[in-house]
Amino acid sequence: MPHAPNCVLRGRLLTFMDRPADQHARDCYAYWPDGALAIEKGKIAWRGDTADLPERFRAWPVRDHARNLILPGFIDAHTHFSQMQVIGSYGAQLMDWLDTYTYPEEARFADPAHARAMAASFLDELIGHGVTTAAVYATSHPVSATAIFEAALARDMCLIAGKVVMDRNAPAVVCDTPQRAYDETKALISAWHGKGRLAYAITPRFAITSTPAQMSAIQTLIAEHPDCYVQTHLSEHPEEIRETLRLFPEATDYTGVYEHYGLLGPKALFGHCIHLSDRERYVLAETRSVAVFCPSSNLFLGSGLFDHAGLSQAGIRIALGSDIGAGTSYSMLQTAADAYKVCQLRGVSLNPLESFYDLTLGNARALSLEDRIGTLEAGTDADLVVLDSRATQAMNIRMQSAETLAEELFVLQTLGDDRAIVETYIAGTSRKTGRAELDQF
Ligand code: GUN
Ligand code: ZN
Repeated sequence: MPHAPNCVLRGRLLTFMDRPADQHARDCYAYWPDGALAIEKGKIAWRGDTADLPERFRAWPVRDHARNLILPGFIDAHTHFSQMQVIGSYGAQLMDWLDTYTYPEEARFADPAHARAMAASFLDELIGHGVTTAAVYATSHPVSATAIFEAALARDMCLIAGKVVMDRNAPAVVCDTPQRAYDETKALISAWHGKGRLAYAITPRFAITSTPAQMSAIQTLIAEHPDCYVQTHLSEHPEEIRETLRLFPEATDYTGVYEHYGLLGPKALFGHCIHLSDRERYVLAETRSVAVFCPSSNLFLGSGLFDHAGLSQAGIRIALGSDIGAGTSYSMLQTAADAYKVCQLRGVSLNPLESFYDLTLGNARALSLEDRIGTLEAGTDADLVVLDSRATQAMNIRMQSAETLAEELFVLQTLGDDRAIVETYIAGTSRKTGRAELDQF
C-alpha cells in the first residue's frame, strides 16, 4: 500500500510511558500543549514542541488540529465483527443470548457477500470511533475471517483476527469439526498472519462449544504457531461456568480446562474473567495471560462486575474491550466510561489518566504491540486519534469548568463518543474524513 504523503500535524499531543497510579502521576505521560508530530512514510518521525521542530520537517505540509488533542489511536482488545446486528438484543443473559440471537446471526456469515459488507462497515465504524487496532472474532466460516482480513488490509490497519472454532452445543450451521477447525485455521494463518499489519488469533469460542477432540486440535495449532495469538472467553457468567465444569468434570476449574490444553500464555487473550478463584488468578498471572475487561457487555448481559483491583493486585495483565455485540458501544471512550462505573460498584475509582493509558499503551502492551503502536514514539506507526473535548454542547458547557488535563480526559470519556473523534489516522493516512488537502506551514 502506498504511504500517505509526509506531513506535520499540530495540536495538543498526549502519550503515555507507563500506567499512571493516580491523577498526579506526571512522570507517566508526556504532554505538549503546542505540539508537532512529523509523519514520514506512515511512521512517526519526530514529536515535541512546535518551536523545536527540526529544520528538515519545516517545509512539510501541515495539518493544524489547533486546540484538539492528538493521541495514539485507540485499541479494542475484544470484539466480534459478526455481531453488528446483534447489538441491543433484548432480555437475555449469556447462554440464552447466544442461542436466541447470536448463533442465528452468525449463521449468515457463511455468505461471503454478507461477511464482506459487514467487515467493511465494521472497520469503518471502528475508524469513526478512533479505533485503529482491534482483536476481532470472525465466525466459524473461513470466508468471514477472509472478509475481515481483506477489509483491514485495504485500510492498512493493524488488526488481529481469527475464525471461531466450535464443534458442539450450537446449531450445525455455525459449527465446524476438529479436523476442519485445524485445516481451516492452518490455511488462514498461512494466508494472513504477518501479511501487511495483520496477525492471526487462534479462536476457540469457549470451552462449552469445543469437544475434547477439538481442544486437542487447538492445542496442536498453538504448539505449531507459537507466534499467533489465542483468544477465547473465560468465566463470564455463572451458568456458563457450571456448564463448563459439567462438560469437563476432570478439570479443577474453568481456567484449568484451557490450562490443560495449552492455551495460557503471554499472547492469550481471555475475554471477561469475572468469577475467578484465587487459583485461577494465580495461574493467569504466572503464565502472563491477559484478562480482557469488557464492561459494557458485562453490564448489558448482567454477567457480573469485573474485579479490576483484585486482578491487578494478583499481577494479571488487563486489557479493555468493547465486546460488540453484547457490548453496546463501538466507542472506547464509552467503554472506559462503563469501566469506571463497574469499578465504582466495586468501590474503586479508576482515574482518567489510567483509562486513557489503557486505551492506548496499556492495550498495546496487552497485545504485545507496544513497539509498533500505542505511543507517539519516533519509529512507531502513525496510528492516531484527534479528539475534540468540546464536540457537543454538553461537553462544551462542562469543559468551561474543567481545569486540568485529567479533568478534560474525564469529560471526554464520560460525555464523548464518535462525535468527539475529529480524525483518525492509520499509518499516517486520514481515514475518518479522508481529507487530502493539507495547508502550507
Ligand atoms: N461466550 C461465547 N461466545 C460469546 C460471545 O459471542 N459473546 C460473549 N460476550 N460471550 C461469549
Ligand atoms: Zn466476546
